[in-house]
Amino acid sequence: MEIVILPTPADVARTAADAIEQQVRSGPSVLGLATGSTPLGTYQELTERHRNGLSFAGAQAFLLDEYVGLPSAHPQSYHSVIREEFVDGVDFPAGAVHGLDGVAEDLEAEAARYEAAITAAGGVDLQILGIGTDGHVGFNEPMSSLGSRTRIKTLTQQTRRDNARFFADPADVPDHVLTQGLGTIREARHLLLLAMGEAKAEAIAAAVEGPVAAACPASALQLHPHVTVLVDEAAASRLAHREYYQDTFGRKPAWQGL
Ligand code: F6R
Repeated sequence: MEIVILPTPADVARTAADAIEQQVRSGPSVLGLATGSTPLGTYQELTERHRNGLSFAGAQAFLLDEYVGLPSAHPQSYHSVIREEFVDGVDFPAGAVHGLDGVAEDLEAEAARYEAAITAAGGVDLQILGIGTDGHVGFNEPMSSLGSRTRIKTLTQQTRRDNARFFADPADVPDHVLTQGLGTIREARHLLLLAMGEAKAEAIAAAVEGPVAAACPASALQLHPHVTVLVDEAAASRLAHREYYQDTFGRKPAWQGL
């Protein structure tokens, strides 16, 4: 894992956008997109860069997860959110942004279809990830199998409380989601985990410096050969080895990139 501590959330967004831009400019690309608040600055930055010529015409994308029971037209479905926050502002080809169907009649078949679609696309080149305050990535809640595949999960009450800000009534937050599994996510070629703010500091410390354990699903990323963790000072505040990360990143040869 490479831990990059940046002064502000805007620096995290710019650095993540740089990595995505580099990926998209390298040729046909498959991006993995997270929703939630964390990547919003990155998507705004990429939308701005699109206005200045960056094209997503050679890219396709797969969402990480979706609420069960929300039709794709619901404003809080991740289909709608990603369209509103990113996809509508750039130029992905029609049909190139894929999501899970949270109202599929057969959710297990939908999960299997999604796994097959990711494989048929050649796998994900660059996966953007946020982290939950309970250490989830995607919606792999604590005790998720480190080898899990796309499937239905029940949200913890902590995650439902965290996400209540997006809904008129906290009771409206769905209980269930479809999410790529930890095994699925770990097959992406490069993982970019973003976190900002003090509320994420404990989860980041457990994910990066704690043991690999299902109790902190994000710790499974330690098993991946290419993970970049982009955090602001607040999200890095509980890391024991902050100075080491800052020193080594500061002396990293520029040609190595992220
Ligand atoms: C969203 C997702 C989740 C979020 C996480 C953090 O697609 O997969 O893991 O990244 O819940 O959410 P925010 O960014 O809203 O703090």
